[in-house]
Order: sequence, then structure tokens, then C-alpha cells
Amino acid sequence: MLTDSFGRGVTDIRISVTKRCNFGCVYCHDEGLGPIARPRAAHGEELTVSEVGRLVAVAREFGIRSVKFTGGEPLVREDLEALTAATVRQIPDVSITTNGSMLAARAEGLRDAGLKRVNVSMDSMDPEQFRSIRGGALAPVLRGVREALRVGLTPVKINLVVFRSTLANIPAMIEFVGRTEGLKLQLIQFMPELVHHREWGVDIASVRRWLEENATTVLVREMHHRRVYRFDRAEVELVDPVYNPDFCANCHRIRVTHKGELKGCLNRNDDLVPTRGLDDAALRAAFRSVITTRVPYYGGFITDIPAAEPTGASLPMLPDSRRVPATD
Ligand code: 5AD
Ligand code: SF4
Repeated sequence: MLTDSFGRGVTDIRISVTKRCNFGCVYCHDEGLGPIARPRAAHGEELTVSEVGRLVAVAREFGIRSVKFTGGEPLVREDLEALTAATVRQIPDVSITTNGSMLAARAEGLRDAGLKRVNVSMDSMDPEQFRSIRGGALAPVLRGVREALRVGLTPVKINLVVFRSTLANIPAMIEFVGRTEGLKLQLIQFMPELVHHREWGVDIASVRRWLEENATTVLVREMHHRRVYRFDRAEVELVDPVYNPDFCANCHRIRVTHKGELKGCLNRNDDLVPTRGLDDAALRAAFRSVITTRVPYYGGFITDIPAAEPTGASLPMLPDSRRVPATD
């Protein structure tokens, strides 16, 4: 395994297979690389199946155990099934993060290609609010989730970005996840670094307190030391990286941009290492190089953004000490 100078072994790789997307989420950070492109935009820069296959073969040599395809929206790629098949031959644990809108028609084919799981972003159960946040429709996403469950791409993790507009949606989303077998909920703290709307952030400590007080049970997961909150049948995790040195200390992930550059941290673009056209020896050297320069983003290393927690004092708060009702 490759380990950086902070003792963080790299076990997981996220590959952005496109910069294109059919949605336009107000919070989109697009893997830290600037605005997403429309679905039919030129895509000559994207990695080919054989380029991804080679990257993953080297990743396997270095002990990387899981691969996630991200975007943009990975399903705008018509060859995502081929990308998946080429990847699972090297590393069997392959998943995608998708907006879900095009998932229903392809979930089964992706499963047959070897895909294991999906993360689907869903911030609201209200179609109008969903559209205002995401720039797309909720119904096809729900169909995509149902189909992913049916074909066994489980657990289906629902990603909800927690910011000013979605804070009040948390109880309803817990209720939805609890009544649907095979779903889990990830509450993802809005990351303002790359979106430049610091004022959208909410006081994430109050969300954590609410979870602690209202969950039926609380477990600690070994990986990332994350806490899992169980609400009767719903399982909920809070992903809160912003100003969180513990999060960075437990980060075991490197990334590949849609142009094939290795990237050591979501929030940095000064460490990109191109890989296109390299022979095997140079590709291995590129992996070593990006890992050598990997530095935790938070915890004494951050210099270019003010080190203060965004607060949300005037925001609508979650209901107090109220158990989410169990439903059948
Ligand atoms: N903050 C937090 N999460 C974000 N995502 C995109 N932009 C942001 C942001 N600014 C998440 C969405 C999506 C995944 C691709 O990245 O939840 O699921
Ligand atoms: Fe960005 Fe994903 Fe939303 Fe597309 S679906 S706009 S890539 S966050």
C-alpha cells in the first residue's frame, strides 16, 4: 500500500469519468474543478476504457481496494458499462455516485457489468424544491433508486447535501430511508470552499447533536471512524469534512480528474499529476508522486481560507428531541 507522510494509507480511488452533467445543482463542486459541462458538450478529453483499465491496474498493484466513478454525471457516458467491466477485472469493488436521473434504464446492465453499489443524490422529497436545487426532476430519480434496489445494487446510499435549503428535509428523508429496505442515508455537509457561498452553510454541530439525541442507537464505524445513527430501520451517517482535521486524518482516497490527472485532495488543484500517455513505469511514478505530496487540508495546513466555522443561527432548526415516527 502507498502511504503518505502523514501515515495515511491510500485504499480507495475516485475516478471522474466526465465533466458533463444533465443536472445543474446549485451546490455543485464538480470534484473541485470548476463548472460542469452540458451533457452533449464536447468530450474529447474524457478517459477511454483502456486508459481507465490501465490506471486501475496500477492502482491494484499499489493495494487500492475500491473504485468509485463520479462526474459530472457518470451515466452521461454511454460506455459506463464497459468502463465498469474493465475496472472490476482489476478491482472488484466498484461503485458510482450518480444523480439517479438516468439510472432506471441502466441499473441492470451496470449490475451485469459488475457494478456493486450506487450512491444517489437526493436532497428533497418535494418535486418543486428538488427542481429548484438540482435543475432536474425528482420522479426519474425515484425510479432509478427503485430499480437499483430491485437489481441488487445495494445498499443504495442516498446523499443529501445539508445546507440552508435542505436542513428541514432531514426528518422526512430519514423516514423515507427507514421505510425502504436497502437504503441508507448520508448527510453531507455543504462544502463552501469551491462554491463560494459560505452563507449557505449551516451549523453542522447542531445537526450532529440532533442525531445524537434522536437516534435509537449510535455505532462507530471503523473506516473513517464515522458514527452511524440508527433510527428504527433507517441508518444515517453524517459526513462533515469542513474544518474537520479528523476527517482529513482519516482520508484514504485519491482522485483522478476527467482529464486523467491524479489529485490528492478534493479541495486542492495545485497537486495535479497528469497520467495520459505515460508508460507503466511512469504511471507508477505518477501515483508515488501524488501520494508524496498529499497533505491534510484541514488542521494547521490550510492557509487560503479563513479558519472559522460557518454558523447558521438564524436558520430553521430541526425539530427538537422528536423521534422520527416508524412507518410500515
Ligand atoms: N458540498 C457537499 N457535497 C457536494 N456534492 C456536490 N457538491 C457539493 C458541495 N458543495 C456532492 C453531492 C453529490 C456528490 C457528487 O457530491 O452530494 O452526491
Ligand atoms: Fe454536479 Fe452531481 Fe449535481 Fe451534476 S448531479 S450538477 S455533477 S452535483
